[in-house]
Amino acid sequence: MDWKTMMYNERFPKSNKYSPEFVAKNQMGPNSIWLMEWLTEKIEIKENMKVLDLGCGCAMSSIFLAKEFGAMVYATDLWIDVSENQKRIVEFGLEDKIIPIKAEAHALPFAKNFFDVIVAVDSYGYFGTDDLYLSYITSFLKSEGIIAAVLPGLMQDFDNFKVPKHLLKPQKNGNVFWEPDCFTFHTKDWWLSHWMKTTLVEVETCDTLEDGYKHWAIQEKALELAGFNIFPSVEETLLNDAGQYIGFARIIATKNKAKTEESMPHAWQPEFSAVCESLRNERDSRKKV
Ligand SMILES: C[S@@+](CC[C@H](N)C(=O)[O-])C[C@H]1O[C@@H](n2cnc3c(N)ncnc32)[C@H](O)[C@@H]1O
Repeated sequence: MDWKTMMYNERFPKSNKYSPEFVAKNQMGPNSIWLMEWLTEKIEIKENMKVLDLGCGCAMSSIFLAKEFGAMVYATDLWIDVSENQKRIVEFGLEDKIIPIKAEAHALPFAKNFFDVIVAVDSYGYFGTDDLYLSYITSFLKSEGIIAAVLPGLMQDFDNFKVPKHLLKPQKNGNVFWEPDCFTFHTKDWWLSHWMKTTLVEVETCDTLEDGYKHWAIQEKALELAGFNIFPSVEETLLNDAGQYIGFARIIATKNKAKTEESMPHAWQPEFSAVCESLRNERDSRKKV
C-alpha cells in the first residue's frame, strides 16, 4: 500500500477531505485531524462559537474546526511560530475564522468566561496533569461551556507500577517508545478522577478510541514512507503492544454553573499576590486595634 492510501482512513470520513501531503507535512505526533474528528463527534459546535484550540501545534485541528463547523477558533500554541500558522490559515482562506496566538498555557491572554468550547488534542498532557490546571483553564470558559481533550494514554495501568519491557525495548531503528513525554500518559479513569474531584465540571464522556494503536501505527508507517516524519517511527512498539497499554483517551466535560462567578484570581496569576497582600494588611490592621 502506498503512503497516501494509508493516510485515507474510513473511521474518519471528514478528515479524508484534507490532502495527505498537507496532513503528513504538518503532523507533530499522532494524526491531529483524526483525533479532532473523534473528539468533536461528541461535542455540538455551532457556527461562530468561540473555540480555544489549546496546544494546536501547526493549527491543522484549528483549520478542521473552522472548516467543518464554522467556529471562531483561537489557535493557541507555544512551540509553533504564529506567522507559520497564519500562512496555513490563509492557504485555506480562513483568516476571518482563525486567530493564531503564541502563548504559554499557564499565562493565557484571554478574558474570563470568554469561550464556548476549549479543546486540546495531544497537548493537554504537557500542562494539564497539574491538579491546579483545570481551575485555571475553566476560568476562561463560559458557564456550561465545554472542555474536552484527547490524550495519548494508557489503556490500563502497569502491573506493580513497572513499565512493561516491550515499551522500553529499543526498536530496530534504535528508538525507545517510552521516553519522557510518555511519563504523562494516564488511563481514562485517572483523567476522570483528576477532573471529577475538582467539582468544577460534570464529565459527560470519558472513553478510549477503539483500535487507537492501529490508527497511530498506520500513520507512523505512512509518514516514514513519505519521508515526512520528524521523529523516528514508533510503529514497531505500537504493533508489539497491540493496544494492551498504549492508545488514546478522550474526556469531555461541562463547566458547572455554580463555579462561574469566582472573583478570586487563580494562584498562578500575578493579581493573586496583590490579594494576599491586601488580606495580610487587613489582618495586621485588625491586630493593631
Ligand atoms: C505533540 S504537540 C501536538 C500539537 C498538535 N495539537 C497536534 O496534535 O499536532 C504538543 C503541542 O503542545 C504545545 N504545548 C506544550 N506545552 C505547552 C505549554 N506549556 N503551553 C502552550 N502550549 C504547549 C506545544 O506547543 C505543541 O505544539
